[in-house]
Amino acid sequence: MKKLIKNGNIATDSRLFKGDILIEDERIVEVGEDLSAEGAEVIDAAGKYVIPGAVDVHTHMDLDVGIARAIDDFYDGTVAAACGGTTTIVDHMAFGPKDCSLWHQVNEYHKLADGKAVIDYGFHGVMQHPITEDRLKELAEIKEKEGISSVKIYMTYDYMLLDDEIFNVLRAAKEAGVVITVHCENHGVIQQLRKEFVETGRTEAKYHPLSRPARCEAEAVNRMIHLAAMAGDAPLYIVHLSSAEGLHEVIRARSEKRPNLGVETCVQYLVLTDDEYEDPKEGLKAIMSPPLRKDQDREELWAALKEGGIIDTVATDHCPFHFKEGKAEKQYGKDDFTRCPNGAPGVQERLMLLFSEGFMKGRISLPQVVKYSSSEPCRMFGMYPQKGSLEAGTDADIVIIDPSKTTRIDKDFIRGASDYSCYEGMELQGCIERVFLRGNEIVSEGKFLGKKGDGRYLKRGNSVLVTG
Ligand code: URP
Ligand code: ZN
Ligand code: ZN
Repeated sequence: MKKLIKNGNIATDSRLFKGDILIEDERIVEVGEDLSAEGAEVIDAAGKYVIPGAVDVHTHMDLDVGIARAIDDFYDGTVAAACGGTTTIVDHMAFGPKDCSLWHQVNEYHKLADGKAVIDYGFHGVMQHPITEDRLKELAEIKEKEGISSVKIYMTYDYMLLDDEIFNVLRAAKEAGVVITVHCENHGVIQQLRKEFVETGRTEAKYHPLSRPARCEAEAVNRMIHLAAMAGDAPLYIVHLSSAEGLHEVIRARSEKRPNLGVETCVQYLVLTDDEYEDPKEGLKAIMSPPLRKDQDREELWAALKEGGIIDTVATDHCPFHFKEGKAEKQYGKDDFTRCPNGAPGVQERLMLLFSEGFMKGRISLPQVVKYSSSEPCRMFGMYPQKGSLEAGTDADIVIIDPSKTTRIDKDFIRGASDYSCYEGMELQGCIERVFLRGNEIVSEGKFLGKKGDGRYLKRGNSVLVTG
């Protein structure tokens, strides 16, 4: 079956041009001008933007956080993603039981995702305390057998790694050609501040950001950059960078030409601020770690995206819980923010926020939107050019956006299981008109047309971070 997208304003990560895209079955066959194909279904994209399907490399579907479980499973969460123009996710796994092998969570996650996801998906592995020789050996195994070429570690939370463990993991990862992705926050300071706040009755949502100051992130980012350098420039990817202080550490590493470093921010740190925590009730919605920061942080992150060569990707850390009164998980924190499960939805909102708040408001170009939401995530995590490009021969994952329409974020917008969006009330310039996954139209004018289980597991290759 052939499809011909005609007269669109096509954007890749390097250019914006008028043209056509010919699709046959699952692949892009040709990109050019004045294309024709007998028998093809013609899709008129005049006046619209045509971009590669977005790729979110930081989601937590069905995440078990102990006190609660993220409410989007791999079906609901990927339907939300698809409706927001995201055609691929790479999901971060939960910690497994004490002393478990890396394979334990790999097998669990196949049970959670296979037959459910409606878009293509991969997994980042997870390494947890204690690190043993067996765990280190499994890094190469999961890469070879499952195409899991990136593994997450945490510097805070239960099962966080200690510095000697981090050093050993980094050395083993370098050997195995695996990227280590890291949640960077200083655990000791956070533990102490949380304890002090609870003991002195400062338990409202507004104390959440104060208990995790930006310098906790900056210290941990700095420590990780040095640990990775001492491990022989091991491949390191910093997830969800949220603050100007953390960014300054990255800028220093970039100025020193530190090799094998990838950096992600998330859309919430570009669009929202810690004002969200002022209302003690509503503030629970935005409890996530790292917390939302100040306007200055937000502006510096946008400026870094505009400049280029500093931050590589914009993801979401999508991890939703119910908010409404009653048994809603977010309400566990109503008398004490430390009991509120961390995380918020975002996988559906990300692309349109980048398009509207970024491109339409002139903060970044459309090729930069493509770069941060699609092509760079794929390069970082071994999926490029199959995903994240519009090259002939690659998967026909394509989004058509109508810039003349608007998208209102309200209750009707939400397609995942969540009962709220942190962006509710925003009116975005532009609207997702159609979404194609491997040539199949899975979203049309807001209507989901895909099928449960149509998403394919992606065995990923080497990251561009891994040189030599
Ligand atoms: O608050 C967050 N980010 N929850 C998900 C787990 C993590 O830290 O990435
Ligand atoms: Zn995290
Ligand atoms: Zn996360």
